This record gives sequence, C-alpha cells and structure tokens, in this order.
Amino acid sequence: MTLIDLITAQSARLKLAGVSFGHGTGNAFDEAAWLVLWALGLPLDALEARAQNVLTADEQAKAESLVRRRIETRQPAAYLTREAWLQNVPFYVDERVIVPRSFIAELLADGEQTGTLDAWLSDTTRAVLDLCTGSACLAVIAAMAYPEIVVDAADISDDALAVAQINVDKHKLASRITLMKSDLLSSVCGPYDLIVCNPPYVNTRSMQTLPAEYRAEPNLALAGGNDGMDFVRTIVRDAPKHLTAQGVLVLEIGNERRHFEQAFPRLEAAWLETSAGDEQVLLLTRDALLNGSAA
Ligand SMILES: C[S@@+](CC[C@H](N)C(=O)[O-])C[C@H]1O[C@@H](n2cnc3c(N)ncnc32)[C@H](O)[C@@H]1O
Repeated sequence: MTLIDLITAQSARLKLAGVSFGHGTGNAFDEAAWLVLWALGLPLDALEARAQNVLTADEQAKAESLVRRRIETRQPAAYLTREAWLQNVPFYVDERVIVPRSFIAELLADGEQTGTLDAWLSDTTRAVLDLCTGSACLAVIAAMAYPEIVVDAADISDDALAVAQINVDKHKLASRITLMKSDLLSSVCGPYDLIVCNPPYVNTRSMQTLPAEYRAEPNLALAGGNDGMDFVRTIVRDAPKHLTAQGVLVLEIGNERRHFEQAFPRLEAAWLETSAGDEQVLLLTRDALLNGSAA
C-alpha cells in the first residue's frame, strides 16, 4: 500500500467513526495525514514528495494502530503525538493544557508584516503579558514575531505552567519569557503595552454539548460560566490598572460575541479580522476600558 492510499483509507475510517476535528486540523484527511506521518516518523510536510512510497506491513500496522487509538479514546491527535503546531511553530502538549489553536496567534505571527496588530502598537512596545498562557503558545509566538519585547506569561494552573516551561525551554526563550502563577491579573506586575488573553469563555450551555475531544481538555481552560463572561468581566475590570497609557488588551471570545455585547454594552471594541472572521477576537484600548467597562 502507498502512503497516499493509507492516508485516504484512514481518513475514511475517521469519518465513519464520527470523530470531531478542530484541534489543529479541520477535516478527516488532514487529521489522517497528521497521524499517519507522525506514526511513520515523517515530517508533516512530507506527503507530497512521498505520496507514492510503498509502505511495509509494519509501517502500515503502526499507523493503523495510532488511528485506532484516536478513534477509541477520542483524544485530540495532539495528545497522542504530544505535539501541536500553531503558525508553523511546534509546541509540546499533553492533557494539562488545551491544544493550541488561538486565533490571536495569527495576529501575532503576522507581526510587522501585515501590521494588523502593529497599527495598535507603538515603537516603544516592550512589555507584553500573555494572560491565561496555557502551553505558552501565544507568549512564544509573540516573542518570535517581535524580537524587542519581553513577555510575562501567567496562568493559575501549575500543570499548565509546567507545560509552558517545556515550551519556553524548547524555543530557548527563557531570557525573554517569564512564567508566573496568577489568578487572572491579581499577581502580575506590568504595566504592559500589550496584554493578549485567550481566557476560558465557553458558556455553560455549550459546555454541556462539547464533543468528547473538547471534554478531554482541562475544564479549567474552557468553562467561562453561565454566559461565558465570568473571566472576561474580571479582566475588563482590572486591565486598565495593568496597561500603559497607550496599552491595549487583545481578547479572544470564541462564539460569544452576543454575550460579550450584552455584558459590556458601553465598551467600544475593535473587532479584529482573523481566518475565523471578525467576531472572535477584539481589541480594547486602555481608554476604551476606562470609559465603558461598567456592566
Ligand atoms: C483557553 S485556555 C488558553 C491557553 C493558551 N493561551 C492558548 O491559547 O492555547 C485558558 C487558560 O486559562 C487558564 N486559567 C483558567 N482560570 C484562570 C485564572 N483564574 N487565572 C489565570 N489563568 C486561568 C487555564 O489554566 C488555561 O490554561
């Protein structure tokens, strides 16, 4: 059997089993390619060049066994491979953190090239906070995209901070990223020129219908209370104290725009365009926070 035939067959298996996607891939073929290539020890971009390679029975069995684990456990592929990619940057992941997929990463990685975020930053942007850092994926991508910044990366979970440490070390960024334990903004310092935050924001109703792959992730990383805004309320209230005069807060809220606008009717948010559209990531200047944060 050739590599491409094996991937096509495993893709059909995943589809038939009804597994859910959204943790690094969006469809059965990409997920099958990821699992098969990883099982064979091949880089993820190897498919095109090796599509017609004939596999040994042993190679085929290895790949099929990994796909079987994916189907039987309903774990996201990244928990099985212990690796996830975001903006072409590899991250170590395990069950202690959510699988990196934040759309804020796109805005950071574009960095000084397209200037989506740059328009809101200044030449003197230096101090950055990645609040709710999880695997530290956003802190790492920010540090890579903006060589002049230093990043504080905060999380309440010791487990998440342990994974974050692995990624900071993996990318040799310990001199520029400081990990810290903090319940939201309560123990961070600042002031910061930029705060990025992908907080838990899934509302209670949505939490109850999440596919198994999402339920395999830490509840603490997802559940945002009745309207998804429990954490956002505290962040919006406390952020001005931790921002410089020109500082901005970039916040991801998933599909909760309606709840966000109900909770903060007077907040003037700039909605930022990502591949998910322009309703998932918003930006608030310090002035906008001060003027409109009353719920
Ligand atoms: C949606 S995950 C985001 C992780 C990472 N930034 C990313 O984009 O993949 C939310 C993170 O918030 C952390 N968290 C939950 N409650 C928190 C709190 N009160 N203070 C700080 N972090 C918290 C969780 O441990 C989790 O790592």
